[in-house]
Amino acid sequence: MPITIESLSYSYIQPSGEKTDALKDVSCSIEDGDFVGIMGHTGCGKTTLVRLIAGLLSPTGGQIRVNGLDIHAKGYNRSILRQTIGVVFQYPEVQLFETTVEKDVAFGLKYSGLSRRDLNGRVEWALETMGFEFEKIRSQSPLALSGGEKRRVSIAGVLATKPKILLFDEPIAGLDPYGRQSFLHFMTRMNQAGTTIVMVSHNLEALCEHTKHLLLLDSGRLIDSGETKEVFVRLHQMNSGAFGRTKSQKIVSLLSDRHMVLPSDIVTYDDLLNALKKKLTGGALA
Ligand SMILES: Nc1ncnc2c1ncn2[C@@H]1O[C@H](COP(=O)(O)OP(=O)(O)O)[C@@H](O)[C@H]1O
Ligand SMILES: [Mg+2]
Repeated sequence: MPITIESLSYSYIQPSGEKTDALKDVSCSIEDGDFVGIMGHTGCGKTTLVRLIAGLLSPTGGQIRVNGLDIHAKGYNRSILRQTIGVVFQYPEVQLFETTVEKDVAFGLKYSGLSRRDLNGRVEWALETMGFEFEKIRSQSPLALSGGEKRRVSIAGVLATKPKILLFDEPIAGLDPYGRQSFLHFMTRMNQAGTTIVMVSHNLEALCEHTKHLLLLDSGRLIDSGETKEVFVRLHQMNSGAFGRTKSQKIVSLLSDRHMVLPSDIVTYDDLLNALKKKLTGGALA
């Protein structure tokens, strides 16, 4: 189910009647099994792009095709899109409302046509995938859980529908380091199991360590895209620092100021570690 985006534009009309061009002429594609990061400053159009891909907004211009079909065309069967794409917005936990965790996760399956037995199996699978012990959590009130747990429950609700493509808008914002790390591991596992993942994030470490491709938005325009590492290297070489640097890139800059010059294509922690080993041992890696 590849996603092809062609000359996509979207404008909001403000209550004052003024027009805001949130996305301008964006073209890109997302292949099956990819893990794509979307980065850019606040207000650059990331959430708008996610809403358009999820079919929740209709483009002002251009097209989005999923598996070759224009999802906004007249006559397009929307139920295919709902079965294909799962979307998790920022702070999804605010939407938990059922009396038990089990009911909340089952909510999205109400009209799935699954038998009660299959439905229960899905709910159990989704909660266990999100790291819960089903029997312990099923009868608890979602409102009594910690912030990180609530978020995992709301994501289980999306997972339970088994989407092939998962869109996450700032999924790790506001989580503590442990919550962040376990969530990123979970996403990587889902991706390895074949789910296409699109993740909006401000966290450069999360983007550089986990995504395969990156889309860089600036004021509604796609200003760079490609393999994650290549985009980060280009940003570093532009030397403007406008979009920030990964921690490893910052360390490379600090060392270079002190006359220890390391390769300019270091982006991740592993890149840095390998380059330092090479430099300090003067040869092959251990
Ligand atoms: N519901 C809305 N009504 C009017 N303008 C909006 C609305 N949502 C977003 N915008 C504007 O569209 C632009 C892009 O917003 P958004 O997609 O939310 O950016 P991001 O997620 O990158 O922060 C911003 O200028 C924002 O103010
Ligand atoms: Mg946003």
